[in-house]
Amino acid sequence: MPGIEIHNTCDCRVYDIRQQGQGSIDLCGEINYGLSSKPPSLPSLLLWNEEGLRRFDKFAHTPSYYLHDKELEILQRRSCEIAAVVPTGSILVELGCGSLQKTGQLLRALEKQGKSIRYYALDVSLQGLTSSVGQLYKELSNPSLVEIIGLWGTYDDCVSWISTPSGQDPVETSTITFLWMGNSISNMEKPSDASALLSKFKQASEAFSLRSQFLIAADACEDADMVQDAYDCQTAALKAFILNGLSHVNDLMGDTVFHLEDWSCESEFDPEKSQLEVYYTPLRDVTVNGADGETYHFSKGHRIRAICSGKWGRKLMFEVASAAGLQMNHAWGDCAGLYCKFISL
Ligand SMILES: C[S@@+](CC[C@H](N)C(=O)[O-])C[C@H]1O[C@@H](n2cnc3c(N)ncnc32)[C@H](O)[C@@H]1O
Repeated sequence: MPGIEIHNTCDCRVYDIRQQGQGSIDLCGEINYGLSSKPPSLPSLLLWNEEGLRRFDKFAHTPSYYLHDKELEILQRRSCEIAAVVPTGSILVELGCGSLQKTGQLLRALEKQGKSIRYYALDVSLQGLTSSVGQLYKELSNPSLVEIIGLWGTYDDCVSWISTPSGQDPVETSTITFLWMGNSISNMEKPSDASALLSKFKQASEAFSLRSQFLIAADACEDADMVQDAYDCQTAALKAFILNGLSHVNDLMGDTVFHLEDWSCESEFDPEKSQLEVYYTPLRDVTVNGADGETYHFSKGHRIRAICSGKWGRKLMFEVASAAGLQMNHAWGDCAGLYCKFISL
């Protein structure tokens, strides 16, 4: 069986594919490493616990956060064309699936095309995953051709899962399609990190003679004002989402390592690098006691990096793909032709 089946109350199977060794993330170790780094940072995975997913969804629906609407628009207008690149009898794996509010559009198009698909939704938050997968199943009202299965783990766990014989799907297939939406590809620290991960998925698939392809939603917005508005940390929903990362540290450490009243957040867009960075910012001089016994001092305004979001246009996406040994075949834009694009590689 693919992973350890987790008993759950939704109508779909959910598997724990977290690896014991190399694939698993040692969050506490990464927190200590990040706090001692110069410049300091905290792992972006801290943002994605169940509460974080709930808060992110609220933020994603704020009017200035254009990504959600633009992606939905592309899916609503182009889902038949996008579904056409997914062969029948194949496997579709959605990386970092979140609340799955957009995926139904694509799965419905696949059903309409009479395609039999085994769809796996991967995410790091088990509770969030179980409820999202259950909701999707209900939304599609008992799909007959698309089988929906949850995978609990990280991207790296998923690479290992594909690489191990026990992870091989009993479905006879020659193609595996990776769906990566929400501009999550650009949450990787550098474009080269994104290429490295794509390459790992490609190689893991090829090791089992599976042809891999990728459907990626990337935000290509070049309008700096629009980007800054979308990620304005004065927006209560964004601030709540980001600061939950510090509460998550406290939960993991079993102690109030970060006093939330001492912290705020801020964002900065660098048009040269096409990169937006979001930071935790102390409102006064603070001391943080790490789990490693070290004490870290942060003076007022001495910010800690929380997450980045690249605004990677076609040229940069082309470079990311090429470095992973992939080719860009199709691009579908939103009506204004400015924002998100789906690219099959
Ligand atoms: C920006 S949200 C996008 C959610 C959804 N795909 C969408 O388009 O709305 C990023 C998602 O990726 C998941 N995620 C982040 N890092 C991950 C990792 N290393 N492994 C697996 N999932 C991850 C988060 O839990 C979250 O659901």
